Amino acid sequence: MERTIGLGCMRLSTALDRDDARSVTVIHTALDAGATLLDTADAYCHDERDFGHNERLIAAALRTWPGDRSTIEVATKGGLRRPGGKWVNEARAKSLRAACDASREALGVDCIDLYQLHAIDPRTPLETSVRALAALQEEGKVRRIGLCNITVGQIESARQIAEIASVQVSLSPLDDESLRNGVAEYCRDHGIRLIAYRPLGGDRVGRLTRDADLAEVAARHGVTPQEIALAWLMDLSPVLTPIPGATRPETARSIATVRRVRLADDDRRQLDARHSGRLLRVSRAERRPPDDADGDVVLVMGMPGAGKSTTAMELERSGYVRLNRDMLGGSLADLVTAAVGARQHVSVTEIAERGRRMRVAASCSGALRVGRHDARRCPDQRDHANDRYPRAAAEPRGDPRAREDGPALLRPGRAIPVRALGGATGPRRRLRDGGAARLHTTRSA
Ligand SMILES: NC(=O)c1ccc[n+]([C@@H]2O[C@H](COP(=O)([O-])OP(=O)(O)OC[C@H]3O[C@@H](n4cnc5c(N)ncnc54)[C@H](OP(=O)(O)O)[C@@H]3O)[C@@H](O)[C@H]2O)c1
Repeated sequence: MERTIGLGCMRLSTALDRDDARSVTVIHTALDAGATLLDTADAYCHDERDFGHNERLIAAALRTWPGDRSTIEVATKGGLRRPGGKWVNEARAKSLRAACDASREALGVDCIDLYQLHAIDPRTPLETSVRALAALQEEGKVRRIGLCNITVGQIESARQIAEIASVQVSLSPLDDESLRNGVAEYCRDHGIRLIAYRPLGGDRVGRLTRDADLAEVAARHGVTPQEIALAWLMDLSPVLTPIPGATRPETARSIATVRRVRLADDDRRQLDARHSGRLLRVSRAERRPPDDADGDVVLVMGMPGAGKSTTAMELERSGYVRLNRDMLGGSLADLVTAAVGARQHVSVTEIAERGRRMRVAASCSGALRVGRHDARRCPDQRDHANDRYPRAAAEPRGDPRAREDGPALLRPGRAIPVRALGGATGPRRRLRDGGAARLHTTRSA
């Protein structure tokens, strides 16, 4: 599959000092430089009064571009409105249908190349919005369907209804959440195009210049750190298409330089280690230590009174060595690393709050399996926890299959996908290896 890059056109319409003539030049320059995707949305405008501005701009630019239009894909979105310049969800079936017709008119096409749901409308079930998109596709108004700002579970639900051609999420060296939460990996595994929006960190683009690793690699190639950031994203997977939001011809032209950059293995190693690239580059099977690894690390976590100590004692009785962060101090990642090579468990205290997922950053450095035991599942402790933290206790987390297993220690061979890592120890303190993108249940004692 050919590596691709696009142009994110949002700023050409949302910037207060926008200039349509300059914007058309920017689009032409990006296309001449080799961008093959133009990302837009009906909502890329100042407010409702010029709704569709960005789509009309793209239509105008494509009409006057001398190149081969058939090689360019235009991806637009529906599902947001802009009353008074605010961004407001509106993804009811009826609204999406009307929005799609308006986008077709603004773009001057009968059939939209790629129509994306801009965001899930909290008032409308995702399934309803996706069914509406599927109907538009059946009617020939939309060639392919995409989703934005979405989780793995939501992609899976949507795929029950329609074929999902693309997923658009924020992804850059400054934001690797979609690498860590499994969305990027899911797209790679299912051949879904992954459109990386805000690939330079948006308004924080200047911070890339101060990134020592990007700067070093950039110096080796004689290009800018921003160009290396984009080249690295393109290099991560053939399914990945970054869409930098250039608003000046100079930055749009830089797309050609990005396409010419060929990263060496050393560059990849350096950048992957710094920015979680390994999570996409290396398959989960390879990242996961073998089943016959020498030991396990079990993370015991739960709110106070949930029964962590009871679980810890059970583990100790069955031969695990206890490493208690409360007593030993240090970061969780350091403790887990220290546990490599033995059968150990690490006790962690976390207070679970309603509306906030319990987050634990952990890694086994590729040498051990890491398991999570949610101590709140112990029935003798649940009542106590329920008294103290009724709302949190009413919301058991973790893999539902694991919950069905009841209070026993985690079963062998069951994998618990963990979609949220970081947080507890802070993104900067987690291990770079990213080996805990999936936590594995420990073998039973
Ligand atoms: N689906 C969604 O919910 C969603 C949300 C946000 C964005 N998006 C999409 O993502 C696109 C990009 O996002 P964004 O514009 O916010 O962030 P971005 O592309 O990460 O950053 C834009 C900034 O990067 C600069 N830039 C672009 N190319 C450059 C280069 N080669 N070298 C140095 N600087 C460069 C631009 O400078 P100049 O202005 O000087 O050119 C601009 O200041 C949007 O246009 C939109 O299509 C989608």
